[in-house]
Amino acid sequence: MFPAHKIPTSGNPLIDQQHGRLTELIRHAVMAARDTDRAAPFEESLAEFRRALAHHFAVEKVIFSGAGFDAASGHEQAHAIILEHLEADLASVKDLSTVQARHRLLEKLERILLEHEMLEDAAYWDAVRAHSSSPILKWTDLMVIGIDWVDSQHRHMVDLLNQLSQAARTGDHPTCARLLQQFLHLTHSHFAAEERHLEARGKPLSRHRADHARMLSGLDELATTDGHGPLVLVDHYLRFWVMEHILGIDRQDLAV
Ligand SMILES: [Fe+2]
Ligand SMILES: [Fe+2]
Ligand SMILES: [Fe+2]
Ligand SMILES: [Fe+2]
Repeated sequence: MFPAHKIPTSGNPLIDQQHGRLTELIRHAVMAARDTDRAAPFEESLAEFRRALAHHFAVEKVIFSGAGFDAASGHEQAHAIILEHLEADLASVKDLSTVQARHRLLEKLERILLEHEMLEDAAYWDAVRAHSSSPILKWTDLMVIGIDWVDSQHRHMVDLLNQLSQAARTGDHPTCARLLQQFLHLTHSHFAAEERHLEARGKPLSRHRADHARMLSGLDELATTDGHGPLVLVDHYLRFWVMEHILGIDRQDLAV
């Protein structure tokens, strides 16, 4: 039965759940492809697949970069190429009027996805597992930027994250909700303050601002709509998110 293959387990529940969702969406598209009287259901199923894949790649970027992989930017490029191919396929999907032609396209999509997951993503999974198994995110000298107010806000983020982890482990949901709101609030104001700081010093701002916008939309989406419990969110996403933010572009653009 097509899709014939299953993506192997990564050990990160967010990534695994998304892989499951992507496989399910291909299955939906296989069903929709049989309805050759109408183009819309098949096109919509592929558009949904594209949205889910873009979201998945954005989450992977945060996790892989946050786990400290220098090669993560090359990985981002691999994601961009896959999405570009997908866009091109979506543009020509109207011309596929037979079930066989549609299934050929889906087989190709599945193959590209599997190859990426099994060959390119799998290289990161051991290290991601090692990072997520520790309950505490330790502050290290590597995280010091050298601007007092930036460092103190970053420390505050790490501190809130660790409190959130603690509350999640004891199942204290009201405290988790409060701490998560505090974390989101701090992040929004912190990013705005960093942007004002760069602007006031005449430093290039557009890349840093775009990176903040990407990180905020990913964070808002996962924290408010994806419905993961706080423990999964903090252990398998937020810790990487904080590390990506501090060790990534802040270290490049702000460090003195
Ligand atoms: Fe993946
Ligand atoms: Fe990937
Ligand atoms: Fe920052
Ligand atoms: Fe920043």
